Amino acid sequence: MLILSVESTCDETAVAVTRNGREVLTDQIFSQADLHAVYGGVVPEIASRSHVEVISQLADRALQEAGVSRGELDAVAVSYAPGLIGAVLVGVSFAKSVAFGLGIPLIPVHHIRGHIAANYIAYPELEPPFVCLAISGGNTLLVDVRGYTDMRVLGCTRDDAAGECFDKTARVLGLGYPGGKPVDQLSQGGDDKKYPLPVGHVEGHPYDFSFSGLKTAVINLVHNAEQKGEELDKPSLCASFSAAVSESLVPRTMAACRELGYGKLVTAGGVAANSRIRADFRAAAEAEGVKLYVPPLKLCGDNAAMIGCQGYYEYLAGNTAGMDLNAYANREL
Ligand code: KG4
Repeated sequence: MLILSVESTCDETAVAVTRNGREVLTDQIFSQADLHAVYGGVVPEIASRSHVEVISQLADRALQEAGVSRGELDAVAVSYAPGLIGAVLVGVSFAKSVAFGLGIPLIPVHHIRGHIAANYIAYPELEPPFVCLAISGGNTLLVDVRGYTDMRVLGCTRDDAAGECFDKTARVLGLGYPGGKPVDQLSQGGDDKKYPLPVGHVEGHPYDFSFSGLKTAVINLVHNAEQKGEELDKPSLCASFSAAVSESLVPRTMAACRELGYGKLVTAGGVAANSRIRADFRAAAEAEGVKLYVPPLKLCGDNAAMIGCQGYYEYLAGNTAGMDLNAYANREL
């Protein structure tokens, strides 16, 4: 089954062609990061306008690269939630017009389900059930993936997402946007114990996360240092910060693995690219005899191949949409 898939929930426009969920024929991505960098974060209207400008050309290029004609497509899948609403609307409208024009099924895909599915592309042998920690710019979710389309949220962030916290830390340190990668790079060689930072806990909810206290602590630390004219050891601050995020994510996730006993742990989303978090998960999984699946860096960030992959399983489960499909800023997994 050949699926054309579309992703436009934030600042990447992406179109892919996939076969039977696991084979990627092409994955075209246009990143808008340069357009937003000057503002220190994503500007929603600029994001929507940029999606409008590039999406058709990207789809043409995807078909050309895949060597697939429009008539050969069996379905079109689209990331319909969650995300910046104006941005998501562009992808949804485009996918609807493709489905309408070609008379093929339209498959709505939850963006986070897509991130989880990125692992099916990287690991052909991977099948549910497993525990997944999805950590991206806008979401932090601990998920019990019981089947390809049967998922239960075990915990989520009560305030900021992990990626948002990285981006705000980068911003206050003047490291630009998006901030996760530069914080990661700068932290190499830093002393992760130099700056004691808080690790958030949510009373009575062992699987929920909280990052706003950590974010505020970093901002206060930087401002205090500025006021006193003190020089900060930025590599050590980045290392201490990354360690605090990891300390918030890893023990909770391992506790979920123990409780569910699947023996398989999957990470997903842009923050899963973080070297400290990857290393801590590797060590924890090895210590507990859990098989760990970490997506390759290029599949951690937003892309359309993961939407095509999950779209295939949604289609098999009968989850298609009509021409009244809408876009949503928030939607349950
Ligand atoms: O999954 P993604 O590309 O987009 C969303 O769906 O949100 O994730 C983007 C997030 C950004 O916050 C970015 O700073 C973060 O992933 N990120 C990282 C790293 N690379 C990207 N965070 C920590 N360490 C990294 N190496």
